[in-house]
Amino acid sequence: MKWFLLFVAALGLGLATADSSADSIETTYNYYRLPTSLRPQKYHLRILTLLENPEDLRFSGSVKILIEALENTKNVTLHSKNLTIDESQITLRQIGGEGKKENCVSSTAVNPSHDFYILNTCQELLAGNTYELYMPFAADLNRQLEGYYRSSYKDPVANLTKWISVTQFEPASARLAFPCFDEPDFKAPFVVTLGYHKKYTAISNMPEKETKPHETLADYIWCEFQESVPMSTYLVAYSVNDFSHKPSTLPNSALFRTWARPNAIDQCDYAAQFGPKVLQYYEQFFGIKFPLPKIDQIAVPDFSAGAMENWGLVTYREIALLYSAAHSSLADKQRVASVVAHELAHQWFGNLVTMKWWTDLWLNEGFATYVASLGVENINPEWRSMEQESLSNLLTIFRRDALESSHPISRPIQMVSEISESFDQISYQKGSTVLRMMHLFLGEESFRSGLQAYLQKFSYKNAEQDNLWESLTQAAHKYRSLPKSYDIKSIMDSWTLQTGYPVINVTRDYAARTAKLNQERYLLNTQVARAYRGGCWWVPLSYTTQAVQDFNNTAPKAWMECGKNGESLPKTIQDLPGPDQWVIFNTQLSTLYKVNYDAQNWKLLIETLTNGDFERIHVINRAQLIDDALYLAWTGEQDYEIAMRLIEYLQREREYLPWKSAFENLKRVGRIVRQTPDFEFFKRYMKKLILPIYEHLNGINDTFSAIPQQDQVLLKTMVVNWACQYQVGDCVPQALAYYRNWRAEANPDEKNPVPINVRSTVYCTSIKHGSDSDWEFLWTRYKKSNVAAEKRTILTALGCSREVWLLQRYLELTFDPKEAIRKQDSMWAFQAVAFNEVGFLLAKKYFMDNVDFIYKFYHPLTKDMSRLLSPLSEQVITLSDFNEFKDFVNNSRQSLKGLEQAIQQTLEIMLTNVQWKERNYHQMSRSIQQLL
Ligand code: BES
Ligand code: ZN
Repeated sequence: MKWFLLFVAALGLGLATADSSADSIETTYNYYRLPTSLRPQKYHLRILTLLENPEDLRFSGSVKILIEALENTKNVTLHSKNLTIDESQITLRQIGGEGKKENCVSSTAVNPSHDFYILNTCQELLAGNTYELYMPFAADLNRQLEGYYRSSYKDPVANLTKWISVTQFEPASARLAFPCFDEPDFKAPFVVTLGYHKKYTAISNMPEKETKPHETLADYIWCEFQESVPMSTYLVAYSVNDFSHKPSTLPNSALFRTWARPNAIDQCDYAAQFGPKVLQYYEQFFGIKFPLPKIDQIAVPDFSAGAMENWGLVTYREIALLYSAAHSSLADKQRVASVVAHELAHQWFGNLVTMKWWTDLWLNEGFATYVASLGVENINPEWRSMEQESLSNLLTIFRRDALESSHPISRPIQMVSEISESFDQISYQKGSTVLRMMHLFLGEESFRSGLQAYLQKFSYKNAEQDNLWESLTQAAHKYRSLPKSYDIKSIMDSWTLQTGYPVINVTRDYAARTAKLNQERYLLNTQVARAYRGGCWWVPLSYTTQAVQDFNNTAPKAWMECGKNGESLPKTIQDLPGPDQWVIFNTQLSTLYKVNYDAQNWKLLIETLTNGDFERIHVINRAQLIDDALYLAWTGEQDYEIAMRLIEYLQREREYLPWKSAFENLKRVGRIVRQTPDFEFFKRYMKKLILPIYEHLNGINDTFSAIPQQDQVLLKTMVVNWACQYQVGDCVPQALAYYRNWRAEANPDEKNPVPINVRSTVYCTSIKHGSDSDWEFLWTRYKKSNVAAEKRTILTALGCSREVWLLQRYLELTFDPKEAIRKQDSMWAFQAVAFNEVGFLLAKKYFMDNVDFIYKFYHPLTKDMSRLLSPLSEQVITLSDFNEFKDFVNNSRQSLKGLEQAIQQTLEIMLTNVQWKERNYHQMSRSIQQLL
């Protein structure tokens, strides 16, 4: 005890912050994971939040942790970051186990590289005993959108800035708000008590239990919330605010409320009715009731991610939760549904059953992504969003995972920055895609009962992917949906532990009526030698033929297998039709692979597509043929001539998915070609392709209310956007007319004659072809808008100008904290400028000249910063520009810390563009000219 006092005296005030370098590191423990000798059993968290003085927004509090010792140890090591801890107030005592004894903390130390706070104990902690650790702490409510932070909004009535507080802990920021064992497998119940001025409301994971006055502060109260179920620290949440809320009214449902700033409360209705519906669907799908007595969802004005699934208190960006019938497009509405469905899916996948370690993050994110599309499909089947999401995920991954710089779904993680980088397309979209594959090859019964068994078994616990494979294998064998000699682990390891996906080459023997199949990794970088494209994936093979045309059956007719040493084994398929009939593999794109056929089969396919019979091929497979043909042409396995002949049929295509697939591919080619002399031909070709569908959809005219099929609304939105870009039909003059009418309105913030679903195109086109005052008009609307979706549409359109000075000014105001653009939205403005062919060079230069500043601007949100890179990578097409960027990267390592993965991808995409330009440009241009 004496020693402890001495230590405190030596520190002067007895205050230490975890990042102060004055403290010595007294321990040799330097592993990135916490020691396993202790386990938290329960947290009592008390936090007093001060929001009255905008100059001094802060919180103070204490945590009492009940800790069980599993092994003897002489210290308590937990996480704490940027917290001021009053060490003189720390207490430690034994409360359970052999012979009750006093204990204390003799000294403390920090290990800043792992955010460890180490309390050396006076007496050894003994296995089997329970201890109570009490620690007080304090910090500012930070501005970094992580930990316990501040957010604000303008109250238009009082003309005042209002402040609120809210948490964002995933993946590793609970430690910024209170000292804790901040790893996902240290689950414990939490009792949260919040202190605040009584003019505010406080919410947390659980319902309120009791409220009493603060002992000393006048008009302050303490609100204690009910004890939670055992949960990971990253799911704890609380907020103090003056928001309004809407209760939901679905019977037999947990109490469900939706919160927003008072002036946006009208925009809560949609999420308030959708949320409980999808929650009920999951209860039935998973066979497990939502375990908490209530659930709140809240729209936070400043928010880094899209949304966060905190158990019982889900937080969102405004754009992901709020919906305005007057300002939000159909795509905006579907986005709200999909985000709400995603976060509520996490209440089971993630919250109830959590990954053991961040290596298996995809178990959280891939599942939530996949299950969300099931949820949305169930509630709004008329959207056909399952098909759309599946294709969109596949298209994303076909590109992303064809890079050498990609990584496996399941990947080792050591540093916090690596955890953040893992929230990427591989965890989300590839994770979701392989789950869909399993769902389709196992069938409904096995898949669902396997999932239910897994969720039951690991409720309130943590799991790894092998646990999931085991439950699914058992179910698959029980329902005979998988041969007894197969197990899910062997199959799925090839998809989750291995980077990439295969291309399957199908070579038919027309006389023998067979086809020989082999596989290799598909890579965009064509300089990688064949020898390095190895790998083997277990591929469920579904296929159909021109005579049978059974695209509904996605069950495998055969499997591509891998040998004992992981080598790929060729496969022969028997009983195929003769030389006058095509075959198509991978019905409905149920599995993540590309297919290359022999020339005859391609020829047969092109015939069917172009002779008007194309609707006999499933709409997803039409999208597949377009994507495969254009990719294979890009990488040189296919002639551009054949690929371009194939997509000619689009002049008669009227469905959304094939167009989406085509546009995604043509967009990439266009971004290169538009910087070359032959763009003229490409433009003419695009016009020819787009005009029929543009006219079929009645152009840009407001026919939306007459469109019965919802995905045709999305098709029209997309086609109109392309039509105005390529000046098809009357698109540009009509768009300008709409904008003029809007500008002529007496009160343009109240009345907007532009049809909602083409506003992004109308605004962009008018800014592109318009005057300085058109730009100012739109910027004023941005500042006055009360709807996040509308703000985003405007922000993107403002980047469409061709005036260099406007674009430059826009870039600068984007990163100016005094201006109207929130940090969370800044990347959209930057992207808009950078994707614009005039803005590209400005944006690239701005990024390279200001990278230090930009790094500090976003710090610690490196993920947000990485979003600035993709428009740069897509448009670099010469070797010298590639080299310039590479040198820049090498000279800017410090300011690109935490973006290593994004940088690797950027460089690789630039390189593949350079390759394309050198190898394919002339060939493609020639084949286009033949078709004009
Ligand atoms: N768990 C994530 C939130 C998150 C993302 C936390 C990154 C920490 C780092 C949440 O469930 C999520 O996935 N949000 C998405 C939106 C979702 C609908 C795809 C996001 O933030 O982009
Ligand atoms: Zn998620």
